[in-house]
Amino acid sequence: MKRILLAAIAALMLPLCASASAPATIRISTDETELVLQTAADGRLYQTYFGDCLKNEAEAASIAPDGSEVYMGSGFEDYFEPALGIVHNDGNRCTVLRYVSHEKKSVEGGTETVIRLRDEVYPVEVTLHYVAFSKENVIKTWSEISHHEKKAVTLFRMASAMLYFFQPKYFLTEFSGDWAEEGKMSTQQLQFGKKILDTKLGSRAAMHVSPFFELGLNAPAQETQGDVLLGTIGWTGNFRFTFEVDNVGSLRVVPAINPFASDYSLEPGQVFTTPEFIFTLSHKGSGLASRNMHDWARRYQVKDGMGSRMTLLNNWENTYFDFNEEILARCMKEAKDLGVDLFLLDDGWFGNKYPRNDDHAGLGDWEAMKSKLPNGVAGLVAKAKETGVKFGIWIEPEMVNPKSELFEKHPDWAIRLPNRQTYYYRNQLVLDMSNPKVQDYVFGILDRLMTENKGLAFFKWDCNSPITNIYSPYLKEKQGNLYINHVRGVYNVFKRVKAKYPDLPIMMCSGGGARCDYEALKYFTEFWASDDTDPVERLYIQWGFSQIFPAKVLCAHVTNWNHTATVKFRTDVASMCKLGFDIGLKEMTPDDLAYCKEAVANYKRLEPVILNGDQYRLVSPYDCNHMAVVYAAKDKVKATLFCYDIHPRFNETVLPVKLQGLDADKMYRVKEINLMPGKKSSLLQDGKVYSGDYLMKVGMDAFTTRDMNSRVIELTAE
Ligand code: GLA
Repeated sequence: MKRILLAAIAALMLPLCASASAPATIRISTDETELVLQTAADGRLYQTYFGDCLKNEAEAASIAPDGSEVYMGSGFEDYFEPALGIVHNDGNRCTVLRYVSHEKKSVEGGTETVIRLRDEVYPVEVTLHYVAFSKENVIKTWSEISHHEKKAVTLFRMASAMLYFFQPKYFLTEFSGDWAEEGKMSTQQLQFGKKILDTKLGSRAAMHVSPFFELGLNAPAQETQGDVLLGTIGWTGNFRFTFEVDNVGSLRVVPAINPFASDYSLEPGQVFTTPEFIFTLSHKGSGLASRNMHDWARRYQVKDGMGSRMTLLNNWENTYFDFNEEILARCMKEAKDLGVDLFLLDDGWFGNKYPRNDDHAGLGDWEAMKSKLPNGVAGLVAKAKETGVKFGIWIEPEMVNPKSELFEKHPDWAIRLPNRQTYYYRNQLVLDMSNPKVQDYVFGILDRLMTENKGLAFFKWDCNSPITNIYSPYLKEKQGNLYINHVRGVYNVFKRVKAKYPDLPIMMCSGGGARCDYEALKYFTEFWASDDTDPVERLYIQWGFSQIFPAKVLCAHVTNWNHTATVKFRTDVASMCKLGFDIGLKEMTPDDLAYCKEAVANYKRLEPVILNGDQYRLVSPYDCNHMAVVYAAKDKVKATLFCYDIHPRFNETVLPVKLQGLDADKMYRVKEINLMPGKKSSLLQDGKVYSGDYLMKVGMDAFTTRDMNSRVIELTAE
């Protein structure tokens, strides 16, 4: 497209350009990857290279810009998707940015490059930030937009960043599905034009498509080979990824807040900070890309990313809303018997004038329901202490049922239209988090529970409704700011919670796995990946989410979904992530219960390997009737292999499972664990010692074909 045009435009612009005589080369590098940016004679900044680190400085600076402008404005010579769109005070919609300066500074884990750009006609500035994490090979980037025009300008495009690729072919893997079908993977080749992945759910990132993608360069993303870009945006609201292939076959990737219904009014002097776009480029397939992302997330992004996690028993699928103190005391006792750390009380514990006995009433009234819980939350915390387990509680503080005292007092705190009939999603409305008073109120819910109930050890923070009836009584004529300011209001509350309770573990939940982004994870220790706990479906869901998130943040609970799967199969599936139970133990046979206790004990012993080790996805459920994943400890002394036979097939040929991530020179003892009481392992290799070399090249006969089956195998270097 612009390749020919650029020279002519550059010549035209030359006299206006302050930096024309001294071109700047900016190298943004991790230990593996490098992004080279270069000013051209027109004073604008272009991406000239993105790939393996270049060895020679002079050569890196010698690559001629080809029109791939780093933060493309709009309304000038480019015909494709811009990064930035502004309506200036005079109604003009054109913005063209020129390079001003850049600087580098050391930050935890790497180097931050800060680049200043400015429009030469309008007083508009953009600052680009790139943090390159050297060892993890991850780059995180975001932008700041500001201006000094007389009045507010309107932003109609506000990308976090832009990346360009020039390859023969591009293959996009998306993670799209629905409620209870989160993280479903599918791949398509990108052709000329745009492929857009976006959401308009307001209060969450996802439901129909998750905020991350894989881009296979020249070939579809594969597990252990090929060039793959893994990217994600940290925004708990409407996002949009635009992938656009232009007329010369170049691809631009534009991660951004979705501009839908968000013509943002930006006041003079105010800084608009975009969400972070986080990416890693792997030359060895998506497996390595995921491990890079997992390492980075644990070290630098997730709340208490390096800490351990609590196993738990939840009562949601066991009791739903139907419980009292006696039933909960029994659940706590069951948690203790299982050997988990915590009992988690779910929805239905609050509301008095409008008791929360189903999902039609009570949201907003966070007082313990006297009829169910005469001794309040404090009584439950005390009971848990007496039983010997920790106590956690469910809240959904950003929401309100119209049947609530809160709504009676503050109808103007809910997002809803003043002039149309209200549409209710799950019988509730979203509180207007752009309103600082609402932020105070929402923070106060958790804060009061913590203050009044010493010993409260865990929260599940839910968000079940997308924003519907989009209108904020607070923002009045600035409705274009609502989707964005709402999310910022949510972050203000998350920040206050983290500042006051830095060590409090909190599970993020959103009607299943709809809140699954790395900005929210700065404030949460884990998230609920899906309401679908059918273990077969979970194999796919966890495979999908594992592309981007470490096992440590993915909550997986053993439930009664899919009775055809044994308790062992269900528990082995949940043991691949952050293990919990959401089931009544009285429904279990004594053998199942004995098995579960042992599985919990094994999980606790192996937690450092599963939650902090390197994950290698070995056999994909998308490719066959089986699935296998191994976690190897960083020092390669221990590993845990999980194998699943999903659908028994007559006479199916199954291949040995070849491990990865072991030390070829170490000798490993193989031991099948998580066996049902009285059962002996039928694994040929059980109890024997093999070299890592053998296990990775020859492998183990870990799959079976007769029944739906699962195996957990511990490997210990001797
Ligand atoms: C959502 C969550 C569930 C449960 C219910 C309670 O659907 O995903 O796990 O907490 O809310 O209403």
